[in-house]
Amino acid sequence: DATTVTTSTTLTLTLILSCSHTTLILTLILSCSQWPYCLKRCSYCNFNKYIPRSDNQDVMLECLQRETETLLKLSQVSRITSVFFGGGTPSLARPSTIAAVLQTVTRHAGLSEEAEVTLEVNPTPVGSSKLEDFLHAGVNRFSIGVQSLRDDDLKVLGRDHNSQHALQTVAEARRLCPGRVSVDVMFGRPGQSVASWELELDELLSVCDDHVSLYQLTLERGTQLFRQVQKGQLSVPSDDITAVMYDSARRILQKRGYLQYEVSNFARNGAISQHNMSYWKASQYLGVGPGAHGRFVPRGEGYVCREARTQTLEPDVWLREVQQRSHGTRRRIPLTHLGLLEEVLVMGLRLTDGITHQHWQLFSPRADLYQILSSSSEVQDLQQTGLLILDDR
Ligand SMILES: C[S@@+](CC[C@H](N)C(=O)[O-])C[C@H]1O[C@@H](n2cnc3c(N)ncnc32)[C@H](O)[C@@H]1O
Ligand code: SF4
Repeated sequence: DATTVTTSTTLTLTLILSCSHTTLILTLILSCSQWPYCLKRCSYCNFNKYIPRSDNQDVMLECLQRETETLLKLSQVSRITSVFFGGGTPSLARPSTIAAVLQTVTRHAGLSEEAEVTLEVNPTPVGSSKLEDFLHAGVNRFSIGVQSLRDDDLKVLGRDHNSQHALQTVAEARRLCPGRVSVDVMFGRPGQSVASWELELDELLSVCDDHVSLYQLTLERGTQLFRQVQKGQLSVPSDDITAVMYDSARRILQKRGYLQYEVSNFARNGAISQHNMSYWKASQYLGVGPGAHGRFVPRGEGYVCREARTQTLEPDVWLREVQQRSHGTRRRIPLTHLGLLEEVLVMGLRLTDGITHQHWQLFSPRADLYQILSSSSEVQDLQQTGLLILDDR
Protein backbone atom coordinates (compact mmCIF):
# COMPACT_ATOMS: atom_id res chain seq x y z
CA ASP A 1 0.00 0.00 0.00
CA ALA A 2 0.98 3.67 -0.17
CA THR A 3 2.51 3.73 3.31
CA THR A 4 4.76 0.80 2.56
CA VAL A 5 5.94 2.32 -0.68
CA THR A 6 6.75 5.65 0.97
CA THR A 7 8.60 3.97 3.81
CA SER A 8 10.69 1.74 1.62
CA THR A 9 11.51 4.55 -0.78
CA THR A 10 12.73 6.76 2.04
CA LEU A 11 14.73 3.90 3.46
CA THR A 12 16.36 3.16 0.14
CA LEU A 13 17.30 6.80 -0.33
CA THR A 14 18.96 6.93 3.09
CA LEU A 15 20.83 3.71 2.42
CA ILE A 16 22.24 4.76 -0.86
CA LEU A 17 23.26 8.22 0.28
CA SER A 18 24.98 6.82 3.31
CA CYS A 19 26.75 4.05 1.45
CA SER A 20 27.88 5.94 -1.60
CA HIS A 21 29.34 9.06 0.06
CA THR A 22 28.57 10.49 -3.39
CA THR A 23 31.62 8.76 -4.82
CA LEU A 24 31.48 6.23 -7.61
CA ILE A 25 33.98 3.95 -9.16
CA LEU A 26 33.95 4.04 -12.89
CA THR A 27 34.36 0.79 -14.75
CA LEU A 28 35.58 1.48 -18.22
CA ILE A 29 35.64 -2.07 -19.35
CA LEU A 30 36.76 -1.31 -22.83
CA SER A 31 36.72 -5.02 -23.56
CA CYS A 32 36.14 -8.21 -21.39
CA SER A 33 32.84 -7.05 -22.58
CA GLN A 34 34.13 -3.59 -23.29
CA TRP A 35 37.26 -2.85 -25.40
CA PRO A 36 35.61 -5.60 -27.28
CA TYR A 37 38.40 -6.50 -29.66
CA CYS A 38 41.05 -9.23 -29.55
CA LEU A 39 43.66 -10.27 -32.12
CA LYS A 40 42.50 -13.89 -31.92
CA ARG A 41 40.04 -16.03 -29.99
CA CYS A 42 41.46 -18.04 -27.10
CA SER A 43 40.09 -21.58 -27.10
CA TYR A 44 38.48 -21.30 -23.65
CA CYS A 45 37.07 -17.78 -23.68
CA ASN A 46 33.41 -16.84 -23.99
CA PHE A 47 33.75 -13.19 -23.07
CA ASN A 48 32.13 -10.58 -25.27
CA LYS A 49 34.95 -10.16 -27.78
CA TYR A 50 35.32 -9.70 -31.50
CA ILE A 51 38.10 -9.82 -34.07
CA PRO A 52 38.19 -6.31 -35.62
CA ARG A 53 37.18 -6.22 -39.29
CA SER A 54 38.55 -2.72 -39.83
CA ASP A 55 40.32 0.03 -37.94
CA ASN A 56 37.53 1.86 -36.11
CA GLN A 57 39.61 3.32 -33.29
CA ASP A 58 38.51 6.90 -34.04
CA VAL A 59 34.83 6.15 -33.80
CA MET A 60 35.37 3.90 -30.75
CA LEU A 61 37.13 6.77 -29.00
CA GLU A 62 34.39 9.23 -29.87
CA CYS A 63 31.68 6.86 -28.59
CA LEU A 64 33.51 5.84 -25.42
CA GLN A 65 33.91 9.50 -24.54
CA ARG A 66 30.29 10.21 -25.35
CA GLU A 67 28.91 7.32 -23.32
CA THR A 68 31.22 8.17 -20.40
CA GLU A 69 29.90 11.74 -20.40
CA THR A 70 26.26 10.59 -20.60
CA LEU A 71 26.54 8.12 -17.74
CA LEU A 72 28.55 10.50 -15.55
CA LYS A 73 25.89 13.18 -16.00
CA LEU A 74 23.13 10.66 -15.35
CA SER A 75 24.75 9.54 -12.10
CA GLN A 76 25.49 13.16 -11.04
CA VAL A 77 28.55 11.77 -9.34
CA SER A 78 31.15 14.20 -8.10
CA ARG A 79 34.19 11.97 -7.77
CA ILE A 80 35.53 8.86 -9.47
CA THR A 81 37.79 6.73 -7.33
CA SER A 82 38.99 4.09 -9.79
CA VAL A 83 38.90 3.27 -13.47
CA PHE A 84 39.40 -0.19 -14.99
CA PHE A 85 40.05 -0.68 -18.69
CA GLY A 86 39.11 -4.32 -19.26
CA GLY A 87 38.41 -6.54 -22.18
CA GLY A 88 38.72 -8.14 -24.72
CA THR A 89 42.16 -6.69 -25.12
CA PRO A 90 42.24 -3.03 -24.08
CA SER A 91 46.01 -2.95 -24.57
CA LEU A 92 45.15 -2.97 -28.30
CA ALA A 93 43.58 0.47 -27.88
CA ARG A 94 45.74 3.49 -28.62
CA PRO A 95 47.26 5.10 -25.52
CA SER A 96 45.73 8.38 -26.75
CA THR A 97 42.27 6.72 -26.49
CA ILE A 98 42.91 5.83 -22.85
CA ALA A 99 44.14 9.39 -22.18
CA ALA A 100 41.09 10.92 -23.86
CA VAL A 101 38.66 8.80 -21.88
CA LEU A 102 40.40 9.73 -18.64
CA GLN A 103 40.22 13.40 -19.63
CA THR A 104 36.48 13.00 -20.16
CA VAL A 105 36.19 11.56 -16.66
CA THR A 106 38.18 14.47 -15.23
CA ARG A 107 36.10 17.02 -17.14
CA HIS A 108 32.71 15.69 -16.05
CA ALA A 109 33.52 14.40 -12.56
CA GLY A 110 36.61 14.63 -10.43
CA LEU A 111 39.15 11.85 -10.81
CA SER A 112 40.78 11.51 -7.39
CA GLU A 113 44.49 12.21 -7.23
CA GLU A 114 45.01 8.75 -5.80
CA ALA A 115 42.56 7.03 -8.19
CA GLU A 116 43.57 3.52 -9.26
CA VAL A 117 43.63 3.34 -13.06
CA THR A 118 44.13 -0.24 -14.25
CA LEU A 119 44.71 -1.52 -17.77
CA GLU A 120 44.40 -5.20 -18.69
CA VAL A 121 47.40 -6.10 -20.82
CA ASN A 122 48.02 -9.11 -23.07
CA PRO A 123 51.71 -10.10 -23.22
CA THR A 124 53.50 -9.08 -26.42
CA PRO A 125 57.00 -9.54 -27.86
CA VAL A 126 59.57 -7.11 -26.53
CA GLY A 127 59.62 -3.82 -28.42
CA SER A 128 55.97 -3.94 -29.42
CA SER A 129 54.41 -3.07 -26.07
CA LYS A 130 52.98 0.39 -25.48
CA LEU A 131 53.17 0.17 -21.69
CA GLU A 132 55.21 3.34 -21.29
CA ASP A 133 52.75 5.29 -23.44
CA PHE A 134 49.85 3.90 -21.40
CA LEU A 135 51.61 5.08 -18.25
CA HIS A 136 51.89 8.59 -19.68
CA ALA A 137 48.23 8.39 -20.67
CA GLY A 138 47.30 8.06 -16.97
CA VAL A 139 47.33 4.31 -16.28
CA ASN A 140 48.95 3.52 -12.93
CA ARG A 141 48.30 -0.22 -12.59
CA PHE A 142 48.77 -3.08 -15.06
CA SER A 143 46.97 -6.42 -14.95
CA ILE A 144 48.76 -8.90 -17.20
CA GLY A 145 47.12 -12.00 -18.67
CA VAL A 146 50.03 -14.42 -18.24
CA GLN A 147 47.70 -17.48 -17.94
CA SER A 148 50.59 -19.98 -18.02
CA LEU A 149 54.37 -20.20 -18.28
CA ARG A 150 54.21 -23.46 -20.29
CA ASP A 151 54.46 -22.83 -24.03
CA ASP A 152 52.64 -26.04 -24.97
CA ASP A 153 49.76 -25.12 -22.68
CA LEU A 154 49.60 -21.58 -24.05
CA LYS A 155 49.19 -23.12 -27.51
CA VAL A 156 46.34 -25.36 -26.31
CA LEU A 157 44.70 -22.31 -24.75
CA GLY A 158 44.97 -20.57 -28.13
CA ARG A 159 47.01 -17.69 -26.74
CA ASP A 160 49.06 -15.63 -29.17
CA HIS A 161 51.93 -15.17 -26.70
CA ASN A 162 54.61 -17.47 -25.31
CA SER A 163 56.18 -17.64 -21.86
CA GLN A 164 59.06 -15.40 -22.89
CA HIS A 165 56.64 -12.66 -23.98
CA ALA A 166 54.86 -13.01 -20.64
CA LEU A 167 58.05 -12.74 -18.59
CA GLN A 168 59.28 -9.74 -20.60
CA THR A 169 55.94 -7.96 -20.29
CA VAL A 170 55.81 -8.53 -16.53
CA ALA A 171 59.39 -7.24 -16.17
CA GLU A 172 58.66 -4.12 -18.23
CA ALA A 173 55.45 -3.41 -16.31
CA ARG A 174 57.28 -3.80 -12.98
CA ARG A 175 59.96 -1.39 -14.11
CA LEU A 176 57.34 1.20 -15.08
CA CYS A 177 54.87 0.67 -12.23
CA PRO A 178 56.67 -1.00 -9.33
CA GLY A 179 54.28 -2.50 -6.77
CA ARG A 180 51.26 -1.99 -9.03
CA VAL A 181 51.40 -4.95 -11.38
CA SER A 182 49.04 -7.91 -11.19
CA VAL A 183 49.19 -11.21 -13.07
CA ASP A 184 46.32 -13.50 -14.10
CA VAL A 185 47.21 -17.19 -14.02
CA MET A 186 44.98 -20.13 -14.84
CA PHE A 187 44.84 -23.59 -13.29
CA GLY A 188 42.81 -26.73 -13.98
CA ARG A 189 44.15 -26.65 -17.52
CA PRO A 190 44.10 -29.61 -19.93
CA GLY A 191 46.71 -32.19 -19.03
CA GLN A 192 47.92 -30.25 -15.97
CA SER A 193 49.14 -32.17 -12.89
CA VAL A 194 49.34 -30.89 -9.32
CA ALA A 195 53.14 -31.21 -9.30
CA SER A 196 53.64 -29.27 -12.55
CA TRP A 197 51.21 -26.57 -11.36
CA GLU A 198 53.13 -26.13 -8.11
CA LEU A 199 56.43 -25.75 -9.98
CA GLU A 200 54.93 -23.33 -12.47
CA LEU A 201 53.34 -21.14 -9.78
CA ASP A 202 56.62 -21.04 -7.85
CA GLU A 203 58.43 -19.98 -11.01
CA LEU A 204 55.85 -17.25 -11.67
CA LEU A 205 56.01 -15.94 -8.11
CA SER A 206 59.74 -15.55 -8.31
CA VAL A 207 59.33 -12.97 -11.11
CA CYS A 208 55.98 -11.35 -10.50
CA ASP A 209 55.05 -8.25 -8.56
CA ASP A 210 52.70 -7.83 -5.58
CA HIS A 211 49.32 -9.03 -6.88
CA VAL A 212 48.10 -12.36 -8.27
CA SER A 213 44.65 -13.35 -9.57
CA LEU A 214 44.05 -17.10 -9.81
CA TYR A 215 41.58 -18.27 -12.41
CA GLN A 216 40.22 -21.78 -12.27
CA LEU A 217 39.55 -22.79 -15.87
CA THR A 218 35.83 -22.96 -16.58
CA LEU A 219 34.82 -25.04 -19.59
CA GLU A 220 32.40 -22.68 -21.30
CA ARG A 221 29.80 -24.01 -23.71
CA GLY A 222 30.34 -22.83 -27.26
CA THR A 223 34.13 -22.59 -26.95
CA GLN A 224 36.62 -24.64 -28.92
CA LEU A 225 38.05 -26.10 -25.72
CA PHE A 226 34.62 -27.27 -24.59
CA ARG A 227 34.19 -29.16 -27.88
CA GLN A 228 37.69 -30.66 -27.71
CA VAL A 229 37.00 -32.00 -24.20
CA GLN A 230 33.57 -33.30 -25.22
CA LYS A 231 35.08 -35.17 -28.17
CA GLY A 232 37.74 -36.68 -25.90
CA GLN A 233 40.59 -34.94 -27.73
CA LEU A 234 41.65 -33.23 -24.50
CA SER A 235 40.92 -33.88 -20.86
CA VAL A 236 40.89 -31.54 -17.88
CA PRO A 237 41.74 -32.49 -14.28
CA SER A 238 38.84 -33.74 -12.15
CA ASP A 239 37.14 -31.39 -9.66
CA ASP A 240 38.95 -33.12 -6.79
CA ILE A 241 42.35 -32.61 -8.42
CA THR A 242 41.48 -28.99 -9.22
CA ALA A 243 40.54 -28.48 -5.57
CA VAL A 244 43.96 -29.81 -4.55
CA MET A 245 45.53 -27.35 -7.03
CA TYR A 246 43.62 -24.47 -5.44
CA ASP A 247 44.69 -25.50 -1.94
CA SER A 248 48.31 -25.89 -2.93
CA ALA A 249 48.26 -22.51 -4.68
CA ARG A 250 46.94 -20.88 -1.49
CA ARG A 251 49.71 -22.52 0.50
CA ILE A 252 52.47 -21.54 -1.95
CA LEU A 253 51.20 -17.98 -2.21
CA GLN A 254 51.01 -17.64 1.54
CA LYS A 255 54.53 -18.98 1.95
CA ARG A 256 55.74 -16.31 -0.49
CA GLY A 257 54.02 -13.55 1.51
CA TYR A 258 50.89 -13.09 -0.61
CA LEU A 259 47.84 -12.74 1.62
CA GLN A 260 44.56 -14.05 0.30
CA TYR A 261 41.99 -11.28 0.52
CA GLU A 262 39.35 -12.79 -1.76
CA VAL A 263 38.46 -16.21 -3.20
CA SER A 264 40.83 -15.77 -6.17
CA ASN A 265 42.96 -12.77 -5.24
CA PHE A 266 46.23 -12.46 -3.33
CA ALA A 267 48.37 -9.45 -2.51
CA ARG A 268 51.74 -8.68 -0.96
CA ASN A 269 52.72 -5.38 0.64
CA GLY A 270 49.06 -4.28 0.81
CA ALA A 271 48.74 -4.15 -3.00
CA ILE A 272 45.07 -5.19 -3.07
CA SER A 273 43.00 -4.07 -6.05
CA GLN A 274 40.95 -1.10 -4.90
CA HIS A 275 38.71 -1.38 -7.92
CA ASN A 276 37.75 -5.00 -7.43
CA MET A 277 37.42 -4.40 -3.71
CA SER A 278 34.77 -1.82 -4.53
CA TYR A 279 32.72 -4.46 -6.38
CA TRP A 280 32.93 -6.81 -3.42
CA LYS A 281 31.91 -3.99 -1.09
CA ALA A 282 28.88 -3.36 -3.33
CA SER A 283 29.91 0.18 -4.29
CA GLN A 284 28.25 1.92 -7.19
CA TYR A 285 29.91 1.73 -10.60
CA LEU A 286 29.35 2.82 -14.16
CA GLY A 287 29.96 0.44 -17.06
CA VAL A 288 31.03 2.01 -20.35
CA GLY A 289 31.52 0.24 -23.67
CA PRO A 290 29.99 -2.76 -25.45
CA GLY A 291 28.66 -5.32 -22.96
CA ALA A 292 29.73 -3.33 -19.88
CA HIS A 293 27.76 -3.72 -16.65
CA GLY A 294 26.99 -0.96 -14.19
CA ARG A 295 25.19 -0.47 -10.88
CA PHE A 296 24.32 3.06 -9.90
CA VAL A 297 21.52 5.46 -9.01
CA PRO A 298 20.48 7.46 -12.11
CA ARG A 299 19.90 10.64 -10.10
CA GLY A 300 19.85 12.77 -13.24
CA GLU A 301 16.49 11.19 -14.11
CA GLY A 302 15.16 11.74 -10.59
CA TYR A 303 15.60 8.13 -9.44
CA VAL A 304 16.66 7.27 -5.90
CA CYS A 305 17.20 3.52 -6.28
CA ARG A 306 20.14 1.70 -7.74
CA GLU A 307 19.77 0.12 -11.17
CA ALA A 308 21.62 -2.82 -12.70
CA ARG A 309 22.48 -1.72 -16.22
CA THR A 310 23.95 -3.58 -19.20
CA GLN A 311 25.25 -1.93 -22.35
CA THR A 312 24.60 -3.40 -25.80
CA LEU A 313 26.92 -6.33 -26.52
CA GLU A 314 27.69 -6.07 -30.21
CA PRO A 315 30.20 -3.27 -30.92
CA ASP A 316 28.75 -2.09 -34.25
CA VAL A 317 25.25 -1.88 -32.78
CA TRP A 318 26.60 -0.20 -29.63
CA LEU A 319 28.46 2.38 -31.77
CA ARG A 320 25.28 3.19 -33.70
CA GLU A 321 23.26 3.55 -30.52
CA VAL A 322 25.81 5.84 -28.90
CA GLN A 323 25.93 7.97 -32.06
CA GLN A 324 22.12 8.19 -32.14
CA ARG A 325 21.28 8.62 -28.44
CA SER A 326 24.58 9.16 -26.62
CA HIS A 327 24.52 5.81 -24.82
CA GLY A 328 24.16 2.12 -25.60
CA THR A 329 22.24 1.05 -22.49
CA ARG A 330 20.31 -2.08 -23.44
CA ARG A 331 18.87 -3.25 -20.11
CA ARG A 332 17.90 -1.47 -16.90
CA ILE A 333 16.73 -3.42 -13.89
CA PRO A 334 15.82 -1.49 -10.74
CA LEU A 335 17.39 -3.18 -7.74
CA THR A 336 14.97 -3.69 -4.85
CA HIS A 337 16.24 -3.17 -1.32
CA LEU A 338 16.23 -6.95 -0.84
CA GLY A 339 18.09 -7.40 -4.14
CA LEU A 340 20.75 -4.95 -3.01
CA LEU A 341 21.15 -6.71 0.35
CA GLU A 342 21.53 -10.05 -1.46
CA GLU A 343 24.33 -8.54 -3.52
CA VAL A 344 26.02 -7.16 -0.39
CA LEU A 345 25.94 -10.69 1.07
CA VAL A 346 27.04 -12.59 -2.02
CA MET A 347 29.85 -10.19 -2.90
CA GLY A 348 30.96 -9.72 0.72
CA LEU A 349 31.25 -13.46 1.34
CA ARG A 350 33.93 -13.63 -1.35
CA LEU A 351 36.21 -11.62 0.93
CA THR A 352 38.51 -13.20 3.50
CA ASP A 353 37.31 -10.56 5.98
CA GLY A 354 33.70 -11.41 5.22
CA ILE A 355 31.05 -8.81 5.99
CA THR A 356 31.51 -6.64 9.04
CA HIS A 357 28.46 -5.52 10.99
CA GLN A 358 29.52 -1.95 10.28
CA HIS A 359 29.54 -2.53 6.53
CA TRP A 360 26.17 -4.29 6.64
CA GLN A 361 24.70 -1.37 8.56
CA LEU A 362 25.48 1.01 5.71
CA PHE A 363 22.96 -0.87 3.61
CA SER A 364 20.59 -2.08 6.33
CA PRO A 365 20.47 0.35 9.25
CA ARG A 366 17.28 -1.17 10.62
CA ALA A 367 17.94 -4.90 10.59
CA ASP A 368 21.31 -6.21 11.67
CA LEU A 369 22.89 -9.48 10.52
CA TYR A 370 21.72 -11.37 13.62
CA GLN A 371 18.12 -10.29 13.02
CA ILE A 372 18.34 -11.21 9.34
CA LEU A 373 20.24 -14.49 9.56
CA SER A 374 20.07 -16.12 12.96
CA SER A 375 16.53 -17.48 12.68
CA SER A 376 17.27 -19.24 9.38
CA SER A 377 17.66 -23.00 9.68
CA GLU A 378 19.90 -23.03 6.58
CA VAL A 379 22.24 -20.55 8.26
CA GLN A 380 22.23 -22.64 11.43
CA ASP A 381 23.17 -25.74 9.43
CA LEU A 382 26.05 -23.86 7.78
CA GLN A 383 27.23 -22.57 11.15
CA GLN A 384 27.16 -26.07 12.64
CA THR A 385 29.28 -27.47 9.83
CA GLY A 386 31.70 -24.55 10.20
CA LEU A 387 31.03 -23.18 6.73
CA LEU A 388 29.66 -19.90 8.04
CA ILE A 389 30.74 -17.85 11.03
CA LEU A 390 28.34 -15.32 12.48
CA ASP A 391 30.00 -13.48 15.36
CA ASP A 392 30.62 -9.95 16.64
CA ARG A 393 33.24 -9.01 14.03
C1 LIG B 1 38.50 -11.56 -20.16
S1 LIG B 1 40.13 -11.73 -19.82
C2 LIG B 1 40.69 -10.18 -20.34
C3 LIG B 1 42.16 -10.00 -20.26
C4 LIG B 1 42.96 -10.29 -21.49
N1 LIG B 1 42.25 -10.24 -22.68
C5 LIG B 1 43.61 -11.66 -21.36
O1 LIG B 1 43.09 -12.59 -21.93
O2 LIG B 1 44.64 -11.72 -20.72
C6 LIG B 1 40.31 -11.67 -18.05
C7 LIG B 1 40.76 -12.98 -17.48
O3 LIG B 1 39.69 -13.89 -17.52
C8 LIG B 1 40.22 -15.18 -17.46
N2 LIG B 1 39.34 -16.10 -18.20
C9 LIG B 1 38.73 -15.89 -19.37
N3 LIG B 1 38.00 -16.98 -19.71
C10 LIG B 1 38.14 -17.87 -18.71
C11 LIG B 1 37.66 -19.21 -18.48
N4 LIG B 1 36.88 -19.83 -19.36
N5 LIG B 1 38.00 -19.83 -17.33
C12 LIG B 1 38.79 -19.20 -16.44
N6 LIG B 1 39.30 -17.97 -16.62
C13 LIG B 1 38.99 -17.32 -17.73
C14 LIG B 1 41.62 -15.12 -18.04
O4 LIG B 1 42.54 -15.64 -17.13
C15 LIG B 1 41.86 -13.64 -18.23
O5 LIG B 1 43.10 -13.26 -17.75
S1 SF4 C 1 41.00 -14.55 -22.98
FE1 SF4 C 1 41.43 -12.41 -23.32
S2 SF4 C 1 42.63 -12.35 -25.26
FE2 SF4 C 1 41.70 -14.36 -25.13
S3 SF4 C 1 39.83 -14.13 -26.35
FE3 SF4 C 1 39.29 -13.82 -24.19
S4 SF4 C 1 39.41 -11.63 -23.90
FE4 SF4 C 1 40.49 -12.09 -25.81
